[in-house]
Amino acid sequence: MLSSKASCNSHGQDSSYFLGWQLYENNPFHEVENPTGIIQMGLAENQLSFDLVESWLRKNPDVMELKKGGESVFRELALFQDYHGLPTFKNELVEYMAKIRGNKVKFDPNNLVLAAGATSANETLIFCLADPGEAILLPTPYYPGFDRDLKWRTGVEIVPVHCWSSNGFRITMFALEEAYERAQKLNLKVKGVLITNPSNPLGTTMTKEELDHLITFAVAKNIHVISDEVFSGTVFDSPGFISILEAAMDRNLENTDVWSRIHIVYSLSKDLGLPGFRVGMIYSNNKTVVGASTKMSSFGLVSSQTQYLLTNVLASKRFTSKYMKENQKRLKKRKEMLVSGLKKSGIECLKSNAGLFCWVDMRHLLSSNTLEAETKLWNQMVCDVGLNISPGSSFHCSEPGWFRVCFANMSRGTLQVAMRRIKDFVERSNFMGRIKMNYQQNMSSLSRKLLSNWVRKLSSPDPNEHER
Ligand SMILES: Cc1ncc(COP(=O)(O)O)c(C=O)c1O
Repeated sequence: MLSSKASCNSHGQDSSYFLGWQLYENNPFHEVENPTGIIQMGLAENQLSFDLVESWLRKNPDVMELKKGGESVFRELALFQDYHGLPTFKNELVEYMAKIRGNKVKFDPNNLVLAAGATSANETLIFCLADPGEAILLPTPYYPGFDRDLKWRTGVEIVPVHCWSSNGFRITMFALEEAYERAQKLNLKVKGVLITNPSNPLGTTMTKEELDHLITFAVAKNIHVISDEVFSGTVFDSPGFISILEAAMDRNLENTDVWSRIHIVYSLSKDLGLPGFRVGMIYSNNKTVVGASTKMSSFGLVSSQTQYLLTNVLASKRFTSKYMKENQKRLKKRKEMLVSGLKKSGIECLKSNAGLFCWVDMRHLLSSNTLEAETKLWNQMVCDVGLNISPGSSFHCSEPGWFRVCFANMSRGTLQVAMRRIKDFVERSNFMGRIKMNYQQNMSSLSRKLLSNWVRKLSSPDPNEHER
């Protein structure tokens, strides 16, 4: 009944990442109304600084009322014809992007293409850069939505670049080359490599060395680099954020071929905590890519009303400076609360400095080093413990036992409840483990005793033997 595209399952909606959301929806935690419900820790949403935006809006009522200097701009916005973006909005966006990068990178508003969130921006870019059956390299673990955004409708293949815990999941030249060779063996033409910097799910920023490897690799293979930088404003600790464009500028690559093959994807969903506003963008130094993605972006535009509102918010430089600083401070505090809470239960996290989540090492809680054991633990976590955390397998992680745990989409109180639940679970597991171990030890000493009695009995002469 449906087209093959609509019914093909490469969308990835069956992954435990999305299943966890459904389980949460059926039984959502509420401090008063449903205190035993599931706590949503699988959603990378930033709710920590809403009060700052709301307070700004209260002080600037004209903006919400679609007024300028007291006069209504409703008609102007309702009839706005340049669907590809208000010039004033694009100007504010590039200034904001530069500010996040410490003004080390300058952005030209003419190279910016608006899209309905980074979801739409990523897909649009892939539509422009690759044909069906061609491949994009993607370091693991990666954001589960990429199966939908990069692959589903475009028909492009994702070839994972396997990264490992032994070096903190850093991207190496060896891993890039290995993935490239694997793609070639599969007869897939590699068109580019996509990175997420800062990483979702790792919560880490890329090192200069990693960025250098990527650029060198892209030059050698003559391929594109897409840098998804949607979490760039969430960096709350050192080392600071280095954009791929900054790394390329440091190598004086502005006038070389690779400069036009580097593209950035950004959105206001994470940094400003506005995923519902659907504001995303592509930034590229390649005029052909800008032209093609502008045409494609007609299928996912940002409403002029949203653009108007956010132009005003971003134009308030005092507000954006204060917001960025305060938001990062709050994220850092919240992350520390999660890390120390987990530590009390004997659970460690990958050292992180960005993002709205931690990458948590639960390998010691697995019954075996397998994906099945990871899924079993995930099931226990969601259904018994009541925490929707996301298993590493949904991020295509190569090692079982890692989980992404979000910390910025809930109140402090809810996070405390979550930490208590984890502590109880670990204590229960340790207790059950001890009972199991004691039982096994007792059973084995009992069976040893029985066996030695039996052997003794067999080897001792039977006093009645000759009477039979
Ligand atoms: C790495 C990454 N890219 C893109 C997106 C999608 O963002 P948006 O809400 O702007 O579409 C997400 C959302 O979680 C993400 O983590």
